[in-house]
Amino acid sequence: MTDKLDAAAPATNRAPSHSRNLCEPWSHPYAGQLQSRIAMSAMTRNFAGPGHTATESMAAYYALRAANGVGLILTEATIVHASGDGYRDVPHIEDEAQTESWQRVTDAVRAAGGHIYSQLWHCGRISHPDFLCGATPVSSTDRQAAGINRQNGKPGSRQDAKISVLARS
Ligand SMILES: Cc1cc2nc3c(=O)[nH]c(=O)nc-3n(C[C@H](O)[C@H](O)[C@H](O)COP(=O)(O)O)c2cc1C
Repeated sequence: MTDKLDAAAPATNRAPSHSRNLCEPWSHPYAGQLQSRIAMSAMTRNFAGPGHTATESMAAYYALRAANGVGLILTEATIVHASGDGYRDVPHIEDEAQTESWQRVTDAVRAAGGHIYSQLWHCGRISHPDFLCGATPVSSTDRQAAGINRQNGKPGSRQDAKISVLARS
C-alpha cells in the first residue's frame, strides 16, 4: 500500500528508499550497529529504588523494549548531582552504588539486543527546597522560573560556590 502510494507521488515527494526500513538494522554514525531505526525517547517513570538506584524492574522494563525491537533507548532523565534532584523516586547516577545499579539495566538491554544511553539531568531552578533538605536550588541563572515553576522560588545566583563544585563533578 505504501509502495503504491509512493509510486504515485511525484518523484520529489517520494520518501527516500532507506526511510522505509524502520525495523531493519542500522549502522548509526555514533551509536554503532543498531537492531532497528526505532528510538525510544527519555521518559521519567519515577520507579527508582532506595538511594535513587536503578532496580530490577527498571532493567526488565528497558530490556523488554529492546527485546521488542527498539534500536536505541534513552533512559529516563537521571540526576547527576544531589543538588539537581526535583522529582520523587527518580534515579541518580552520582555515587558508586547508583552508578553500579545501572549496570543491571545496561546488561539486560544489551543482552536483549538493544543500545542504551543515559539522559543526564540537573533540575536547576526547577528543583525545590523540599528535595534539597531545605537548601535553595542552584541554577545557571539567578532568575525565577516562569509559569507553574514560579512556586519553586528564586534560585541561588550563578556565583554561588555550589555551581563551581557542580561544574567540577
Ligand atoms: C511520562 C513522560 C515522561 C517524560 N520524561 C522525560 C524525560 O525524563 N526527559 C525528557 O527529555 N523528556 C521526557 N518526556 C518527553 C518525551 O521524551 C518525548 O519527547 C515526548 O513525550 C514526545 O514529544 P511530544 O510529547 O512533545 O509529542 C517525557 C514524556 C512523558 C510522556
